[in-house]
Amino acid sequence: MIKKAVIPAAGLGTRFLPATKAQPKEMLPIIDTPTIQYVVQEAVDSGIEDILIISGRNKRAMEDHFDRNVELEDRLAKEEKDTLFNEIRHIADMANIHYVRQKEILGLGDAIYYARFHTGNEPFAVLLGDTIINSVMPVTQQLIDVYEQYQATTVAVEVVPRDKVSRYGIVGGEKLSDHIMAIDQFIEKPSVQEAPSNLAIAGRYILTPEIYTALEQTPKGKNNELQLTDALMNLTHKEKVVSHTIQGKRYDIGNKLDYLKTTVEFALRRKEFAKPFYDYLKKIVEENDRPL
Ligand code: UTP
Repeated sequence: MIKKAVIPAAGLGTRFLPATKAQPKEMLPIIDTPTIQYVVQEAVDSGIEDILIISGRNKRAMEDHFDRNVELEDRLAKEEKDTLFNEIRHIADMANIHYVRQKEILGLGDAIYYARFHTGNEPFAVLLGDTIINSVMPVTQQLIDVYEQYQATTVAVEVVPRDKVSRYGIVGGEKLSDHIMAIDQFIEKPSVQEAPSNLAIAGRYILTPEIYTALEQTPKGKNNELQLTDALMNLTHKEKVVSHTIQGKRYDIGNKLDYLKTTVEFALRRKEFAKPFYDYLKKIVEENDRPL
């Protein structure tokens, strides 16, 4: 049973400056909900009870968000704003959330290495704090199911257009079923010619404690950072690592254009905004429908 999850959220978010100068990008809201709350909700919906957030210098905002705010609760109670009151209280009760600070921002692999004392000998889920995945069955739950079947490190991947592979970390290997592959290659941003597939790493993993030894044995890679994909590649030489092609849509809010797209899609899905927002978008598209 996988009950623990790690959410790395310590990155500098340089692609989203200046918004990320004094707050983590994981706190950027999609409409009214911080990105990391969607991520925590996915973990909780997948049966996770204990979450370790790897945070950086600006962790206060995340800690405060998942804590109680008694003054605010009192005010909402007095004003009989029951729905809002319940929503605010629920956030503090979602899961047991712990924090550890990544002292230097030395890459995703380094961030995960901070979790070793917390996860101990158990397998655990990893959910990138800047990635929301919209799906019918939570993707972490999909991965847990695959892990239980194969008892192996499991990496979520998504199908991307062939001509866009050079934007992603791509995996290659031997197909075991229509959505599972035994991975023998991890290639960061390959050219279209060298890409072994069009399956891109999607920001969700089930890792085993062996990842910590693999991280210790992996030299620093790109940007002088400890890359998780390099450690996973090393792990494939020792044990089985499988990929699961997710059923769901991934939203990477770490870059500005994808953040905008995410906000628009989520707004169109919200009952109270769908119609007026659609009408508004249609109107401005018609008004601006001229070659740029
Ligand atoms: P990214 O590479 O997308 O985040 O990491 P970044 O480094 O903040 O982005 P840019 O390129 O500067 O804009 C994916 C996830 O891993 C976390 C990030 O917070 C993000 O959720 N991360 C990354 C860490 O926790 N520590 C790191 O050293 C690097």
